[in-house]
Amino acid sequence: MSEQLHAQLAADIAETGGVVMLVGAPDTGKTTLAHQIMSEGIRSGRSIGYVDADVGQSTVGPPACVGLRLVRTAEDLDDLSTADDLRFVGSTSPERMVLQQVLATATLVDVARRSADLVVIDTTGAVSGVVGQTLKYHKMELCRPELVVALQRGAEMEPIVGMLRRFFAARVETLPVHPNVVPVSPEALSERRQQAFAKAFKAPLERWRVRPTVFAPTISAGLDFARLDGMLVGVQDGEGRCLGLGALQYEEDVLRVITNCGEGMQGLRLGSLRVDPLDHRVQRVNLREVMFGFDH
Ligand SMILES: Nc1ncnc2c1ncn2[C@@H]1O[C@H](COP(=O)(O)OP(=O)(O)O)[C@@H](O)[C@H]1O
Ligand SMILES: [Mg+2]
Repeated sequence: MSEQLHAQLAADIAETGGVVMLVGAPDTGKTTLAHQIMSEGIRSGRSIGYVDADVGQSTVGPPACVGLRLVRTAEDLDDLSTADDLRFVGSTSPERMVLQQVLATATLVDVARRSADLVVIDTTGAVSGVVGQTLKYHKMELCRPELVVALQRGAEMEPIVGMLRRFFAARVETLPVHPNVVPVSPEALSERRQQAFAKAFKAPLERWRVRPTVFAPTISAGLDFARLDGMLVGVQDGEGRCLGLGALQYEEDVLRVITNCGEGMQGLRLGSLRVDPLDHRVQRVNLREVMFGFDH
């Protein structure tokens, strides 16, 4: 019965078009439902923009980024990993990154609107607590979806659903989690994440010497560059777009970025992770601590 609900909703969304945002805890079937909506959309002749805002379990583009994929044919759905446009967030979890996360998503939803008549937003599993609710509130505010679908086990989404209904005019539907959904173990999750970083740092890697003036946020003149060693960066073009990921390396008084997307690089955005470009393990850091030696 739940199966029919999902299929029916996907067909309705494809028929209506517009912007739909999928929310739910991790492993509630958001990405699977997004696929279902997109295949229905293709059958209905829609041009589709898929905005993958799940920075932890990315489908489109590298982790720590929001990716946009334009989907035109059923074949496109077989492999969504190549992004048509990318925005850097800098972390695999939205905690402390609400601003970056909301703006990256909203910017790509705007890009998608221009060329697609059905836009599907897939989001992170952060749905509870102050961070999750603040994130969803502001995503709603800036992305302006006509429809929100909340996938829930039991009544876990009721607080966020109630909040969105109170403050926004969009339709908010709840949908039970499909019975066949298999939760992914934390080990499998971190293994997947490591593989995603491995893919983002796949050969051929280049090492580019970087000047201290290329960063956002800017770094102060007195900073010991050794502190930046291993920091994850977004490689940016000069038009606000992210080209891919890089990792800083400080060796023998020289600061370099290791990346496979240095062509067209205009600047580097500092993230809140350190990444080992060889074994692809990541570690969360506080950028303010890195820059100033304390959190302020
Ligand atoms: N309708 C469904 N039928 C069968 N399996 C499903 C369905 N929805 C999700 N799954 C499975 O459950 C797991 C989690 O689903 P996923 O869509 O990745 O969730 P989320 O994007 O919310 O983390 C995946 O292995 C997926 O294949
Ligand atoms: Mg997902």
